[in-house]
Amino acid sequence: SPMEGCVLQRKTYEARPGLPAPMAISSTRPNSLPDLQRVLVVGSGGREHALSWALQRSSELETVWITPGNAGSGQHGLDLAETDSRGLIDHCLNNGVDLVVVGPEAPLAAGVGDALRQAGIAVFGPGADGAQLEASKAWAKQLMQEAGIPTAGHWAVQTEAEALAVLNQVQRPLVVKADGLAAGKGVTVADTVGEAETAIRDAFAGRFGSAGEQLVLEERLQGPEVSVFALCDGERIVLLPPAQDHKRLEEGDRGPNTGGMGAYAPAPLLDADGLELVRRTVLEPTVQALRKRGIDYRGVIYAGLMLTADGPQVIEFNCRFGDPECQTLMPLLGPELARVLQACALGRLDLAPTLQIDGRCSACVVAAAAGYPESPRKGDAIQLGFESDAERQLFHAGTRRNEKGELVTAGGRVLAVVAQGEDFDQAFASAYRNLEQVQFAGITYRRDIGHQVRSGG
Ligand code: AMP
Ligand code: GLY
Repeated sequence: SPMEGCVLQRKTYEARPGLPAPMAISSTRPNSLPDLQRVLVVGSGGREHALSWALQRSSELETVWITPGNAGSGQHGLDLAETDSRGLIDHCLNNGVDLVVVGPEAPLAAGVGDALRQAGIAVFGPGADGAQLEASKAWAKQLMQEAGIPTAGHWAVQTEAEALAVLNQVQRPLVVKADGLAAGKGVTVADTVGEAETAIRDAFAGRFGSAGEQLVLEERLQGPEVSVFALCDGERIVLLPPAQDHKRLEEGDRGPNTGGMGAYAPAPLLDADGLELVRRTVLEPTVQALRKRGIDYRGVIYAGLMLTADGPQVIEFNCRFGDPECQTLMPLLGPELARVLQACALGRLDLAPTLQIDGRCSACVVAAAAGYPESPRKGDAIQLGFESDAERQLFHAGTRRNEKGELVTAGGRVLAVVAQGEDFDQAFASAYRNLEQVQFAGITYRRDIGHQVRSGG
C-alpha cells in the first residue's frame, strides 16, 4: 500500500548518516493512525448495538463498551447516560479508551462530542456546531441555499402571523416543519392548505415545545426517498451504499410515522452514477459549506433525499446514522470500519484503510411492541432462537434484563432482524424466516418490508 511505501522510504534515508534529515513530517503530521484497542459506543438503540457488533469485527479491538446500551450489550454495557459528559470522560481516561462513537443526535446537539474532544479523546460525531445540520432545520436550509445544494424552496418563520401570511400568499399546501429536534414527529406533510394552517397553529400553540418556536415551511416535493451516509473527517468523505427506510407503521406504507420499521441496502434507486451525483451536488458542497463556517465536522452526514423529476433533492440532514438503516448497512462493511471511524475522528481519512463493501443485498425487519409508536407495551418475556453470524444478525433495541435476569421488552422498537443474500428475495426470505424464531407477546412487524425490491412481494 502507499502508506508502507512512505515508511520504507523514510527508514532508508535515516539509515544513511551524513545525509540531511528528511522533512520531519511525523512530528507534526503522523503518518499512521495511533493504536485502537478500546472503543466506547454511546447510545441505547439498535443502531448502537449494530455499530458495536460491526466494530468488534476488527481483530485489533480488545473491548467495545456501550452506554447506556440495552440487553444486547452484555458484559460491556455501562450505565452512564448518553449526555453525562463528565462520566463519559472519566470512563475514557480511566480505561484508556481510544475512540468514542456517539450514536444519537441528542448528545451530539448537546455538545457531548465537544466535551470529550476538549478532554483529548478522539470522537466520531460532530460538535454542537455541526450537529445543527439536524438540530435546526432553518440553519440547515440556510446552509443548503448558500451552497447551492438542491432542496425544496422554503420560508423560515418565527411567528404564527408570519407563517399564515406565507401560506395565504402561496395558497399551496406547504410542508410544515418544527425547527428543532422533535423525535421525528415535527413534520406535517399537508394535503390541503387547511391542514397546513392547522399544523402551523398547533406548532405555535406549543405542540413541539421549544422545538416548534421557529418553523420551516417548505414546498412539497414528490418522489421516492433514499438515505445516503457520508463518513466525514472534516474535509474528506467516504460514502456508504444507499439505503431505503420504511417510516410508516403499517403495510402498504400506511399508518403513523415511526422511527423506521425496516430497511434495505443497497437501494437500487440510486445506482453508482446516482451516488456520484449525490456526492458532487450534495455531500461535497455540504462539507465545504461547513468548513466555510469554521466547522470541522467529524462524523456521519446523513442525507435524506427525495429522487424528484429534477434529480435528487435534500429533504433533511441528520448528524448521525439512521436507525434502522445502520443495522442494515453494518453487516455489509468490512473489518476496516473501526479504523475508518477512528481516522474520521482524527481528521485523517487519508490514513485509513479502504473500507471494503460487501456486494450482497441486506434486509432488515424491525419487531416492535404492540401499541408502538403511541404507547408501546413493555415487560414481556422475549424468546430468541438464533444468534448473529456472517449471514444473519439480531440487534437489540428496546430490550433489558429484568430482576430475574430474563430478557424482556423495554421500548417501542424491540429489536431488528437483519439478513444478507445474493439478491433481495433471498435476503428478505432469510430475515423473515429468522424472525419466526423471535417471540414476545404482542410482536408487531411489517411483512412487506422491501416490497420495492422483492419479486411478487
Ligand atoms: P423529515 O423529518 O424532515 O425527514 O420529514 C419526515 C418525512 O416528511 C420525510 O421522510 C418525507 O417523507 C416527508 N417530507 C419532508 N419534507 C418534505 C417535502 N419538502 N416534500 C415532501 N415530503 C416531505
Ligand atoms: N430511520 C430514520 C432515522 O433514523 O431518522
